[in-house]
Amino acid sequence: MPTDTAEALAALAAALPKGVLTPGPAVEPRYRHDWSDQDPTEPLALLRPRSTAEVAAALAACNRLGVAVVPQGGLTGLAGGAHPIAGAVVLSLERMNGVEAVDEVGSTMTVMAGTPLAAVQAAAEAVGLQYPVDLGARGSCTIGGNLSTNAGGVRVIRYGMTRENVLGVEFVLADGTIVDALNTMLKNNAGYDLKQLLIGAEGTLGIVTRAVLRLQPKPARVATALCALPGFPAMTELLKSLRGRLGPALTVFEGMWPCYYDFMADRLGTVRKPFGRTHGAYVLVEASGFAEDDVQARLEAALSGLIEAGTVEDVVVAASERDVRDLWAVREGVSEYGRILGRIIGYDLGVPIGAMGALVEALHRDIEARWPDARVLCYGHVGDGNLHVVVNVPSAGGHQPHDEMDVVVFAATRGFGGTISAEHGIGTLKRPYLPLARSDAAIAVMRRVKAALDPAGILNPGKVLP
Ligand code: FAD
Ligand code: LAC
Ligand code: ZN
Repeated sequence: MPTDTAEALAALAAALPKGVLTPGPAVEPRYRHDWSDQDPTEPLALLRPRSTAEVAAALAACNRLGVAVVPQGGLTGLAGGAHPIAGAVVLSLERMNGVEAVDEVGSTMTVMAGTPLAAVQAAAEAVGLQYPVDLGARGSCTIGGNLSTNAGGVRVIRYGMTRENVLGVEFVLADGTIVDALNTMLKNNAGYDLKQLLIGAEGTLGIVTRAVLRLQPKPARVATALCALPGFPAMTELLKSLRGRLGPALTVFEGMWPCYYDFMADRLGTVRKPFGRTHGAYVLVEASGFAEDDVQARLEAALSGLIEAGTVEDVVVAASERDVRDLWAVREGVSEYGRILGRIIGYDLGVPIGAMGALVEALHRDIEARWPDARVLCYGHVGDGNLHVVVNVPSAGGHQPHDEMDVVVFAATRGFGGTISAEHGIGTLKRPYLPLARSDAAIAVMRRVKAALDPAGILNPGKVLP
C-alpha cells in the first residue's frame, strides 16, 4: 500500500467511531461486486455507519482527505453504480435498517435508507396499505438504492416509478452537511424540490439516509392472468383493450417474447407449463379492485372477448395463491440468469411502445448476424415501453463482448427513437453512451449540479457522467 493511501486509511479510522471501518483486505467478498457483470474489486475500506451522524462524519473525513466514496445498498444494481472502485471506500447503509414511522391517515412511511424493499412492503401491508413499487430484487434491494436508481419494476403502469412514490428525503452532502428534506405532505411547493435531485443520481450527489414514502390503499382483490398471443401486434391490441376496459385497475402488463418465455420455462425446471404449445408472445396481466369491484370477472370478460377476436390465443387465470406464484415464476426467473446462462450482458432499453416489436426483431437480426451463437432473451415492462434484453455469447465465455454489443444494441435502439436506460441507470457500464440519450446542454447542467454539490468529486467518481 502506498504511504499516502496507508495514511489516508489511518486518518479515516481515527476520524470514525470504533467498528465503522473495515480495512480492504478484511472486506468480505459480497461487498466487492454488485449484480453488474464486472470482476470483483477490493475497496480501500468498508464503512458501515449506524446513523446519519456517522454518515456525515465519514463523508466529512473522506472529503477532507480526498478519499472517494462508493455508496452501497443491497448491491442488486445492474449498471455498476455500487461496484467498488480501487482506492475508494465503499459505504454500506446496511446497518441503517428499519421502519421508523407509519402515518395511516397521511398514508406515509418514514424509513432508514438501508431498509430492504420487501420489509417496507410488509410494514405497509400490516396496516392495510401498500407500497406499490415492486421488483424481483425486493428481498435484497434497499430503499436508498431504489431512490438512487429511481427504480421502476412491475407496477409502474399504474403507480409510476420510485420518483412518484417518495415525498421526502434526508441526505448527506459530500462535505458532511446533513440536509433534512423529510417532507410528509403530498403538496409542498416551497422552493426547489431537492429530493428529485437525489432520486436517480446513483450516489453521485449525496447519500440518502432516510426517506418518506407515499403509501396507497391495498387492493381488496387482485386477479392475475397469463395470456398467450400470436405475436407483438396482439400485445399492443391487448394493452389498448385492457386499458380501456379496466382503466386504473390494470396494475401489471409484463410482456415476454418466445425467446425469453419458452427458453426460461424450459430451463427453470420447476415451472408448470400452462400452455399445450408455444405462442408468438406472452403477457402477464394483473388487475386490482377495491371493495365490491369483482375485478376477476371484469378481467375474464375482457379476455373472453379478445379470445373471440383472435387477439388472445390462450389464457390461464389464477384461481389460487399457488397459481399466482406459478404464473409469475417465469417472469421472476431473472435472478437465475447466472445459473442458466453464465455471464450476461443486460439492457433496460426504453422505446415508444408501438416500436417494441420491431426493435426486438432488429436486435435479433443484428446481434445474431455478428455473433451467430448468441442467445438473445427479450421481455419487459411492455406497458411502460421498457424492453429488457439479455444476451449471452457462449463462445465468449467469461469475457462477454460488452463494448461491441453496446454499439450494436444502442444503434438499433436509437433508430427507433429510444433511450439507453429506462430503469437501471447509467452507472459505469453505460457511462460512455450518456450523450446518446441526453443533449450536450443537459449534460453540461448535470456537471454544474455535480460540481455545486460535490466540488471535490468524491462521490462515486467515474459513474454516470462521461
Ligand atoms: P445498489 O445496487 O446497492 O446501488 C445502486 C446505486 O445506488 C449505486 O449507484 C449506489 O452507489 C447507489 N446507492 C445505493 N444506496 C444509496 C444511498 N443510500 N444513497 C445514495 N446512493 C445510494 N430495477 C428496476 O428498476 N426494475 C426492476 O424491475 C428490477 N428488477 C430487478 C430484478 C433482479 C433479480 C435484480 C438483481 C435487479 C433488478 N433491478 C430492477 C435492479 C436493482 O434491483 C435496482 O436498481 C435497485 O433499485 C437497486 O437497489 P440496491 O439497494 O440493490 O442498490
Ligand atoms: C426486470 C429487471 C431486470 O425487470 O429490471 O426483470
Ligand atoms: Zn425491469
